[in-house]
Order: sequence, then structure tokens, then C-alpha cells
Amino acid sequence: MQAKILDVTVKNPLCSRYPPPVSYQKFFLRCLYDCVERFGSECSDDLAKAYTDILLLQDSENSGYHSYKIDEKCTVTLQENSCFVAKSTTGLQTWEAAKYLSEWCIRNKSHFENKTILELGSGIGLLGIIILKFCNPKKYIFSDKSEEVLKLLSSNIKINFKNHVNTFVEQRQLMWADISDEEAEVISPDVILGTGTSGLSYQTLESHQKAIFIYDEFSTLMLYKIYR
Ligand SMILES: C[S@@+](CC[C@H](N)C(=O)[O-])C[C@H]1O[C@@H](n2cnc3c(N)ncnc32)[C@H](O)[C@@H]1O
Repeated sequence: MQAKILDVTVKNPLCSRYPPPVSYQKFFLRCLYDCVERFGSECSDDLAKAYTDILLLQDSENSGYHSYKIDEKCTVTLQENSCFVAKSTTGLQTWEAAKYLSEWCIRNKSHFENKTILELGSGIGLLGIIILKFCNPKKYIFSDKSEEVLKLLSSNIKINFKNHVNTFVEQRQLMWADISDEEAEVISPDVILGTGTSGLSYQTLESHQKAIFIYDEFSTLMLYKIYR
């Protein structure tokens, strides 16, 4: 049983290539270790080695990969920061709202098919990557004000599309309150999206059933329609 669990977690090729944050790996292996002891079994050599190896690692960057299994065919992998605020931005980790809107978009593809989409404050990319993979837009423009966020976004896009995206994709440094009329005309989006954004006018939309991601049970998520 221990070998089976290690095969689908620590030794899983995706996990080896894109390892989760060190703190998470330590937590996971500690729990597994405790579980084995609680059942009175002996810890396998492989589990003992995995645990001691991870204990020797420092989590200096608070950074690691998160892999989101969307369905049997699609997993999205993102490099994220474990801190709520890091490098003066809140955008280096995926917010619950992005997961929630991603689910809605997968179930409502027709709003995005063959459309030019502008995402405001896109952070490190979950929503846009999912729309690109599932909703067949004509063009997708990720935007954020933070250079640090845009750097990580760019590498996350590469991870998930192996340098090859069918749709035209752009990344722009944009402040959502300062988009000029000329800039808006050049971008000319059919759809504007944003999650974890504030200070924009909105209308509340009906919720959908949460099914794909694991959410914080105490979070209250709402969908808003943004308007000028
Ligand atoms: C709370 S995070 C949400 C990130 C992502 N949308 C998500 O839900 O995971 C807010 C994001 O908006 C960006 N941001 C904050 N103020 C902004 C502004 N005035 N213009 C553009 N982006 C902004 C931040 O850099 C950050 O990436």
C-alpha cells in the first residue's frame, strides 16, 4: 500500500518534474508517516528515504508547482508562491475566485468561442490557460500591473502549452483603471474577465455548482458581471 501511494504521489512523473512546495511535501509525508504508525505497520524504506530527503530541503523561496487535474485528459500546472503577499503583490498565487470562474467558463464555453478576451489582473494564469484549453477563443490577452506576476505568468503559459498555443495569446502590463480609449480600441475585446479584482462596477450573477476544485469550505464566492 505504501509503495502504491508513493507511486501516485512523490514518484509520479508530473510531481518529479514539477514538485509541489517543499512545505507541502513535508506535510504530506509527515501525515503518511503518522498514518502508517497509527495502523501499527512498519514504515517502508522508500517512505523513510522520501521523508528524510525532503527534511533536508529548505523552503527558501516559498515557491513550488501546483497541478490542477481538470479532467481525465487535462492537468494544468502552475508555479505559485505559497505566500498571500509576496514581492509586493497578491498575484503570485491562484485565488479561489479564479478556480470558481474557471469552472463556470468550462460549463459556458459559448461565451468565449471565437471571441477576443481581455483578462484584467490575470495573476499567474489559471483562468486564461483553462479558457485557452477548453473554450477556443480567437484571441486571449492576459494583463496585470505587476512585472513579477507577468514573468511568472509567461513561464506558466510555456509549461502548459510547451511553447505552442493555437490561439493568438498576448501578455500586457496594464493598470485596469488607466486603460486609455486608444488602448481599448486597439485591444477591442468582446469579453472582459477578472477575478480577485476590486474597484470595478459590477452586477451579481447566479452561482454554479462547485465540482472540479477543492475549495476552502469557509470561502464565499460570487460571480459578478463587470460593466463600465
Ligand atoms: C488578488 S490577485 C488575483 C489574481 C488572479 N486574478 C486570481 O484570481 O488568481 C489581484 C491581481 O491583480 C493585479 N492588480 C492589482 N491592482 C491592479 C491594477 N490596478 N491594474 C491591474 N492589475 C492589478 C495584481 O498584480 C494581482 O495579480
